[in-house]
Amino acid sequence: MTRALATLLLLLAACDGWPESAPPPPPSAAPEGAIPRGEAARRAALAPPGPPVDAALLAEGAERYAIFCTPCHGAGGQGDGVVVARGHPAIPPLPGDVDRTMAAIAGNLAGAHPVADRLDPRQRWAVARYIATLRGE
Ligand code: HEC
Repeated sequence: MTRALATLLLLLAACDGWPESAPPPPPSAAPEGAIPRGEAARRAALAPPGPPVDAALLAEGAERYAIFCTPCHGAGGQGDGVVVARGHPAIPPLPGDVDRTMAAIAGNLAGAHPVADRLDPRQRWAVARYIATLRGE
């Protein structure tokens, strides 16, 4: 009995932790022609320069802009939306810069832009390109 106990203790003493496992191999690069999905697709869709600027994109942008942006920025982007008429502090005219628009949406600028989950990447580009036309850029 004592001997069995001693053997058991000896065996347990050998279990002093897990052996270090080898680090996993780095992910392999996507094969050529692979179509990104999920988060990778979203990142790719948000990467400049975005979709080609055509009439369809600008029309989509005008529609989304009217819904999500005019209450504050006004139809022409001059900062004269209805909220300003109702007492919101003055809002400066929109810069036409596409990157600044994309950043304002992605970063919920000033807490006034919680629309990142309402506008998919294409719609964000559409709005940004549309605003650029408002400013004549
Ligand atoms: C609730 C009101 C409100 C709405 C709705 C709103 N904005 Fe704004 N936006 C503001 C205010 C206020 C500022 C000025 C913030 C500042 O200067 O700190 C601003 C600033 C900006 C700027 C300037 C960013 C910069 O770099 O200076 C951009 C671009 C912009 N908004 C884009 C948009 C777009 C695109 C939409 C629609 C998807 C939108 N905003 C909807 C209130 C709003």
